[in-house]
Amino acid sequence: MKRIIDLLSSLMKSKKSEFSDIDTCTAGDERKSIQEDMIKRVREYVLTDYRERGYHGIDHWDRVYTNGQQLITRKVNALVVGLFAYLHDYRREDDGDDLQHGPRAADFIDTVRDTLLKDVSDNEIHLLKEACRLHTVVDRTGNPTIDACFDADRLDLGRVGIIPNPARMATKKGKEIASDTFSR
Ligand SMILES: [Fe+2]
Repeated sequence: MKRIIDLLSSLMKSKKSEFSDIDTCTAGDERKSIQEDMIKRVREYVLTDYRERGYHGIDHWDRVYTNGQQLITRKVNALVVGLFAYLHDYRREDDGDDLQHGPRAADFIDTVRDTLLKDVSDNEIHLLKEACRLHTVVDRTGNPTIDACFDADRLDLGRVGIIPNPARMATKKGKEIASDTFSR
């Protein structure tokens, strides 16, 4: 009897892990592809009324997106980091300091929350708005997703002749990338 119970228990364990691996994998791949579509849609949207923004234009936004990909960890929301790349500077009025561009980007997000961003969760919208609002005025927040957004942007400071300082990065990965890439 004990042998039968052991056998059944081991069969159940192997089935469970088999199915949970498949489910996790499929759900992960599916979610990734949905997220990539959403980010692509936002990229297309911001290009519809695009005017050249010099240092803060589409080339910068694409690099922020690529930087963000390197900063994704299990604790970081990849959708928020990808959307941040294309929205954080979208409401800039000029290529200078324009200190209010972060808050303006956060306000803009509210205007497209039920259309362009209708599939983004309330929590993701909250993180995205906070990242946009704070990205020029706060060094780090302690929130892994918001901090990854900050570093994705800061790792592209080379475009304006500033070498990203590892000590000013908000995440561990950001510090590593900054020191590996820019330390002499
Ligand atoms: Fe930026």
